Amino acid sequence: MKIKALPLKNGLKDFANTVSTIPARLGDVAKASDTLPLPTDSFQVNKVARALHPKEQPLTVTKVEDVTDDFKRYYLKSENGRTAYFRAGQYISITLKIGESLCTRAYSLASSPKEALKNEYCIAVKRAAGGFVSDYILDNVKEGDTLTSYAPEGTFVYEPLRDAKTVIGVAGGSGITPFLSLAKAIDERSENLNLILLYGARTEKDLAFKKELDSIAENNGSFKVVYVLSESKAKGFEHGFIGADLIKKYAPKGEYSVFACGPAAMYKFLKGEIEKLGLKKKYVRFEMQGTANGEAKSGETYKMTVINRGETSEFTCRGDETVLTALERAGVPVPVRCRSGECGFCRSKLVSGEVYIDESADYRRIADARFGYIHPCCSFPVSDITIKIN
Ligand code: FES
Repeated sequence: MKIKALPLKNGLKDFANTVSTIPARLGDVAKASDTLPLPTDSFQVNKVARALHPKEQPLTVTKVEDVTDDFKRYYLKSENGRTAYFRAGQYISITLKIGESLCTRAYSLASSPKEALKNEYCIAVKRAAGGFVSDYILDNVKEGDTLTSYAPEGTFVYEPLRDAKTVIGVAGGSGITPFLSLAKAIDERSENLNLILLYGARTEKDLAFKKELDSIAENNGSFKVVYVLSESKAKGFEHGFIGADLIKKYAPKGEYSVFACGPAAMYKFLKGEIEKLGLKKKYVRFEMQGTANGEAKSGETYKMTVINRGETSEFTCRGDETVLTALERAGVPVPVRCRSGECGFCRSKLVSGEVYIDESADYRRIADARFGYIHPCCSFPVSDITIKIN
């Protein structure tokens, strides 16, 4: 098709006409009142937006349930009468004051989106080696307690326009929770995809939610679950680690997406295995739990100078802890959500010094990386540092 160029004469005329309106428009702006004709709260659209996406949600624990020896499920309801809606695979961030530390942790929702409409969320917490917050929750949080959470967030969700119709899910440890939510969402028809879940655990007794997963798989042809045991062999279970061969064994003939969720150690191994599959980049999605710390320097301690709203304070930061962890330990409030480098909420300026950021957790914009901004949640100090937050 040929595109006709606009005659220069007409273009200039349009430009001159537009310029001639500027004085009148500036006059209208100068005469206009500073106060809004109606308060923004009175608009229905704002009320709906706030109900669907509240900034914070006070959540009451209604029940605590043992899932395995080291895994508990927490049922939560909103004190406002309605939990915010979410997409299966998203997480909520819970803020806790533990001693002098102010900590925020992200937990994937294990319940279904429809349950949120009935004012119910579920999260599951697994005991982890050195898990300061998870241990605190498991040992202290009980029925009737109130937790403060931010609204659901996260991009570990099925996108029909981007993803293939079949998703191979790879879950390890507490990485099972977003897949439980997705399986439920398929079952209740909030999501339309085929999910083949490869769920790895050390032994059969470490498998969480097995009854629920089996029951959904029995009743719904769009969901299948395969259990993979690394430390024991049993009939009806795969044995070993989830890698390219196992994924190929269960994958459909045509295109498929791979979603993986689990600890940082699993990610290291799986990344290479998934590369062997030769999938398009858009078909691969990771949700990592914990922070990759490949070259972090354990045993070292550094001085951390923090500039916060014009005030300067000094703390120490260990080489094997993230800058965010050190800030939280010092009780410095930092905006936080994902804790995995992805959301950008904790973005801060590294004024001086050096940090290590694992390539797998470096989601910074190119300009941010170039001009010295870091995400403290996935940055480990390798020298004394000065950072400016907020
Ligand atoms: S909390 Fe999301 S990038 Fe740091």
